[in-house]
Amino acid sequence: MSQRRLIMIAAAAAATLAFSQIACAEEAAAPAAADSAALYERQCGICHDAGGFGTVMLERRVGAERSVLAQRNDLPPAYVRHVVRNGLRDMPPLTRVELPDADLEAIAQYLQRARQ
Ligand code: HEC
Repeated sequence: MSQRRLIMIAAAAAATLAFSQIACAEEAAAPAAADSAALYERQCGICHDAGGFGTVMLERRVGAERSVLAQRNDLPPAYVRHVVRNGLRDMPPLTRVELPDADLEAIAQYLQRARQ
């Protein structure tokens, strides 16, 4: 194989690698594109859907009619952000690594949307 051909292959490989890195960076920087309902399901649904741990605990504390978060309309975004970052009694806090700020914001806005 000629040296020139080797250089061309190396250049093509480097270009491919650079391109895939750019593609990854773009994916990571676009959480807002994610559907916030799906985001909520993935991050909170396991505990806050019907029958979940969070729902059961909230049923005891605030009553059955307010136990499913996604059906409530009394959760200001600031309160949701505070509970998620600091935890609340039996709810463990979620770090920025587990849930980036942009995703938390999308979830807080999603929960604020009235469900009447
Ligand atoms: C590991 C289970 C778990 C996960 C995951 C979880 N929670 Fe919770 N959450 C709970 C529990 C348990 C409570 C009830 C705390 C208590 O009162 O003892 C709670 C309570 C809350 C409350 C307080 C409601 C009220 O009436 O005061 C909010 C708001 C909340 N969670 C939001 C969220 C959001 C948003 C997410 C996802 C980003 C989330 N939680 C993920 C377990 C969880």
